Amino acid sequence: MAQIFPKWTNKVPKIALLSLVCVTTGIVFVFWYWFSPYNLEVGYQPIQPVPYSHKIHAGNLGMDCRYCHTGVEKSAVAGVPPTQTCMNCHSLIKPNSVKLAPVRDSFKTDLPIPWIRVHKVPDYAYFDHSAHIAASIGCVSCHGRIDQMTEVRLEKPLSMGWCLDCHRNPEPHLRPLDKVTDMEWVPDENWKAVAKAKAKTLHPPVESCSGCHR
Ligand code: HEC
Ligand code: HEC
Ligand code: HEC
Ligand code: HEC
Ligand code: HEC
Repeated sequence: MAQIFPKWTNKVPKIALLSLVCVTTGIVFVFWYWFSPYNLEVGYQPIQPVPYSHKIHAGNLGMDCRYCHTGVEKSAVAGVPPTQTCMNCHSLIKPNSVKLAPVRDSFKTDLPIPWIRVHKVPDYAYFDHSAHIAASIGCVSCHGRIDQMTEVRLEKPLSMGWCLDCHRNPEPHLRPLDKVTDMEWVPDENWKAVAKAKAKTLHPPVESCSGCHR
């Protein structure tokens, strides 16, 4: 029988499939790296409505993060403290400071201080603080030296690539559970062995898309 199609056409479906895979991968890659706003926003540091300083409160005064970010161990969100938390001290400390005028106004009017959000993953990605704190990851791994910041600055890209980098190898980020808010803690030799064993018990979503895109 005469051949209508030359022999090479047998390869067409294979080539088409291969191109499709390449193009799809390419598109995902382009979106992931170039259209992801957070890769561009490292260093984002908005001016807040009150010149609240982590350097004074968490650094100099040595206050624990959980005094103000009360949700961090129990829920998905860490939470920004209500004005009442500030007034626990500032009804007595610097009660006439001009810098604290918006705090006093907020307390009187019962309207929350309009803090500007710095860290935010898109709604289609799921993040939960409590799971990470329970796994003994310190705040410093994801937020940098907050205790040295006068104004909070975005230190990490919060991109999918960033999440996956740690999920593939969380071991160097593990620390004793009672040191999760300690910004200066460094591992010693004994700890490294413990961390190795502990890393084996963890199951962060790495390959499974639905782990983070629920
Ligand atoms: C006295 C209360 C207080 C303490 C203690 C405190 N914070 Fe905060 N934190 C705030 C307030 C108020 C804001 C919102 C204003 C701002 O961003 O500066 C905030 C904002 C943040 C943000 C940015 C939130 C966002 O919008 O993305 C991070 C991250 C953070 N704190 C981490 C920490 C860490 C880590 C510690 C401990 C080393 C800590 N905080 C201790 C009150 C506190
Ligand atoms: C545990 C007590 C305590 C809490 C709680 C606290 N502060 Fe302070 N704050 C201080 C102290 C102490 C100072 C330093 C005062 C000084 O410079 O002598 C200070 C300084 C400040 C200043 C600088 C004031 C000035 O005139 O220089 C601001 C602004 C401020 N705090 C905002 C806040 C806000 C906003 C909150 C709530 C999120 C808060 N503080 C919670 C103790 C506290
Ligand atoms: C594994 C990384 C990681 C660790 C560890 C971590 N955070 Fe976060 N944090 C994030 C990400 C990602 C966001 C943005 C979350 C979102 O948009 O839902 C965030 C947001 C925040 C916010 C603002 C939004 C909110 O949830 O209220 C605060 C405040 C905060 N973190 C404080 C802390 C403190 C305090 C600790 C340590 C006790 C901590 N974080 C540990 C990654 C982390
Ligand atoms: C510094 C390391 C680190 C970073 C960065 C990190 N993770 Fe994780 N994550 C872990 C570890 C470790 C676990 C495993 C916890 C366990 O097994 O108990 C985990 C678990 C999770 C889980 C499963 C917990 C649950 O509640 O089901 C989700 C979802 C998750 N991470 C999302 C994210 C996202 C989204 C980001 C980026 C915005 C991120 N993680 C960044 C270390 C990290
Ligand atoms: C560890 C958590 C995690 C896992 C697992 C994960 N993602 Fe993501 N993904 C994120 C986060 C966080 C973002 C938002 C940040 C960004 O755009 O980089 C995101 C963004 C995306 C985007 C949108 C990119 C953009 O810039 O708009 C796509 C598409 C995507 N993910 C696909 C996938 C696919 C496919 C898989 C499975 C192979 C997967 N993700 C697994 C956390 C995760």
